[in-house]
Amino acid sequence: LTMYVSAAVGFSSAVIALGEAVIDIMQVLGYLEPFVELMEIPLAENDKGSESIDIIESIEFENVSFKYPKTDRLILDDISFVIEKGQKISIVGLNGAGKSTIVKLICRLYKPDSGKILINKKDIHEYSYKEYLSCISAVFQDYKLFNFSIQENISCKDISEDDPKVKNILDMVSMSKKIESLPNGVKSLFGKEYDEEGVEFSIGQSQKIAIARALYKGSGFVILDEPTSALDPIAEAEIYENFNDLVGDKTAIYISHRMSSSVFCDKILVINEGKIEAFDTHKNLLKDENSLYSKLFTSQAVNYRYEKVMKTYSAVNDIV
Ligand SMILES: Nc1ncnc2c1ncn2[C@@H]1O[C@H](COP(=O)(O)OP(=O)(O)OP(=O)(O)O)[C@@H](O)[C@H]1O
Ligand SMILES: [Mg+2]
Repeated sequence: LTMYVSAAVGFSSAVIALGEAVIDIMQVLGYLEPFVELMEIPLAENDKGSESIDIIESIEFENVSFKYPKTDRLILDDISFVIEKGQKISIVGLNGAGKSTIVKLICRLYKPDSGKILINKKDIHEYSYKEYLSCISAVFQDYKLFNFSIQENISCKDISEDDPKVKNILDMVSMSKKIESLPNGVKSLFGKEYDEEGVEFSIGQSQKIAIARALYKGSGFVILDEPTSALDPIAEAEIYENFNDLVGDKTAIYISHRMSSSVFCDKILVINEGKIEAFDTHKNLLKDENSLYSKLFTSQAVNYRYEKVMKTYSAVNDIV
């Protein structure tokens, strides 16, 4: 009997520990989808690090190569680059180039097969996972809002009182009016699956809630993998420009699918079939009109009604 009891106790505490680890991951990754991928994360593997981390001073990929487990194709092939504190970096490339994979590696969802990812010159896997995650806010490409209240979706906390910080952030992402117009305000449930009175959002509005979540966390390093959804290009450009204002002096990585954020970033990392094609400023990259970047940018800029976008941006940055 004692054996059974201790086995049962051991099992339930393991389940609790697993549950807590999953909650930690959910808090940093927020809207990661598909969840199947999340469930495959080797938690024990990630639990090994014990080093402390507070402020991220630099992020460095050192000859990183990577294949997804049980596959043969090299998705990242000898990638090296450095991002310093406060820099805004945009990652661009065709579909399937490996952009989101870079983010997954930074979040320790997978380990490189060779090479290292260093933060503050130390392998990221040496840091305590919990502390490490608390330094990063990531909005994933296929984020998902949960069927909880708006407030809970933003804070990732189970709170019943109004949280003034949530209201503040809703203001920053221009969603206060919309939320205040709802009968239950920030306590309105998201989605109609469990509550007929639940609120539904447009794609742009959901994106703002996802961004609000990243801002609520207040970490010094923000990653935004832009959704590929068909948002109106101008609205999209505006969302990311506002986001960049809100990010302030934090370090940020934008994965820019339609180049909407690449113009206001310090440097652009151009990824082509898992390799780095270039890592330079927008201005320099446009000098070679045959470069992949120029081609991506011009083809997208046509869709974007070039002049209008450039007008929006030229106020922010000295482009062209
Ligand atoms: N979990 C996975 N298992 C196996 N292969 C995967 C997995 N996730 C992605 N891949 C493959 O890795 C490659 C790079 O994918 P990734 O998601 O990094 O591309 P991306 O640059 O973000 O593309 P997009 O612009 O479409 O978002 C693709 O060929 C993709 O099919
Ligand atoms: Mg992607």
